[in-house]
Amino acid sequence: MSGHRPNEPPHGYVLIGAALLHQRVRELGAQIAADYAEKRPILVGVLRGVVVFLADLLKATDGLPCEVDFMAISSYGSGSGVVRIEKDLETSIEGRHVILVEDIVDTGLTLRFILRNLEARRPASLVVCTLLDKQAHRLVPLPIRYTGFAIGDRFVVGYGLDEKQRYRNLPDIWVIDETADRSAG
Ligand code: IMP
Repeated sequence: MSGHRPNEPPHGYVLIGAALLHQRVRELGAQIAADYAEKRPILVGVLRGVVVFLADLLKATDGLPCEVDFMAISSYGSGSGVVRIEKDLETSIEGRHVILVEDIVDTGLTLRFILRNLEARRPASLVVCTLLDKQAHRLVPLPIRYTGFAIGDRFVVGYGLDEKQRYRNLPDIWVIDETADRSAG
């Protein structure tokens, strides 16, 4: 479609622009830095969608002594909550203050699995920071401490989020119009 760059969804629109994203991420980073002063938390990112958000969030915690580690998981069937750890943490989190950083929480089943797994390792504390929260779809209650934006029931891409591995490098968050005929794009 004319007016769209090659990597933009042909039937999509910008939901959250880059400037607003960066402003909110700076606020989250400042909040975390204030809450965790003197605590040296570990920020745990769940690959791969979180990398863009986590990189910006880390820069926004300027001055906070903290560490970073990553997990990778695979889900079997959306909404099943059956998850396998493909890559585990390299750091022991026993007795540590852990901030689990997610790009998006939808039903919450994936996050519940990860939280139970991490809780079994006896961290001193464990909270969740998610950029996006699709609250309307939530099936299980979760202790989300930091939320960037609550969004509606829309499929979103960009700023790290993908559809079949595409669109992760868009600087804005886009809604993909699922009513459009995607084969045309
Ligand atoms: P949940 O277990 O239903 O909460 O699913 C969470 C996972 O589904 C996220 O970590 C994403 O990988 C994926 N996901 C859910 N909604 C979206 C979306 O709108 N765009 C891209 N990925 C999504």
